[in-house]
Amino acid sequence: MSLTIAGVLNVAGRTAVASVRSQQVTARDVVLVGGAAGGVGILTAQLARIGGARVLGTASTANHPLLRRLGVEPIAHGPGLVDRLRAAAPDGISAVFDTVGHGTVDAALRLGVMAHRINTIADYDALATHAVRGVGGADAGTAELAELADLIVRGDVEVPIDSRYPLERVRDAYARSVTGRAVGKIVVIADESSADLDA
Ligand SMILES: NC(=O)c1ccc[n+]([C@@H]2O[C@H](COP(=O)([O-])OP(=O)(O)OC[C@H]3O[C@@H](n4cnc5c(N)ncnc54)[C@H](OP(=O)(O)O)[C@@H]3O)[C@@H](O)[C@H]2O)c1
Repeated sequence: MSLTIAGVLNVAGRTAVASVRSQQVTARDVVLVGGAAGGVGILTAQLARIGGARVLGTASTANHPLLRRLGVEPIAHGPGLVDRLRAAAPDGISAVFDTVGHGTVDAALRLGVMAHRINTIADYDALATHAVRGVGGADAGTAELAELADLIVRGDVEVPIDSRYPLERVRDAYARSVTGRAVGKIVVIADESSADLDA
């Protein structure tokens, strides 16, 4: 694995592994990942696929080809989301991983998904008002990270890199992050000479 991938994996990787594991996803599941193109979402969606589930993921249309390539069925977010999800999964969605908020939990509840099968790492209002789950990075350690690393090295999980910044441009990296538009992970490289080791 390249140092770049290893460097971005810790928080997002543990979060994705812990949340997917907490739902015991199987081939009987139809899963929705809210924010499937984001840093946590893109790992979560791939892990749910590996669990055997059919996976729907919300993203803007520019990111739909990437999701399709990773075996995820893209759904546009925004107004009309509940209707699009109902049309895509007429027999229902059984588990939901919300990684960005923006009404994913509300949509899941309106579709009749059981609260204990909804996990959010971003919607604190939903966590306070509904019996949804909030499993995240704190619920997994180095063993789970090593499992994910194996999947990446085998080529079963891909880690798209949105952009790279040297440490002196960390403000620009942060500005990119808060756009909420990153596709996969943003990398900050502290020591450019270490990038040689990626080759
Ligand atoms: N609890 C924990 O353990 C834990 C761990 C890590 C992160 N987090 C939290 O989880 C959240 C996500 O982190 P992240 O690093 O994965 O975020 P991120 O990479 O910054 O998310 C960016 C993605 O959000 C998507 N997005 C924006 N608006 C959307 C919408 N309305 N519907 C669906 N997708 C939308 C964008 O896709 P499009 O451009 O295609 O819309 C973009 O790909 C953050 O709030 C972070 O603080 C919690």
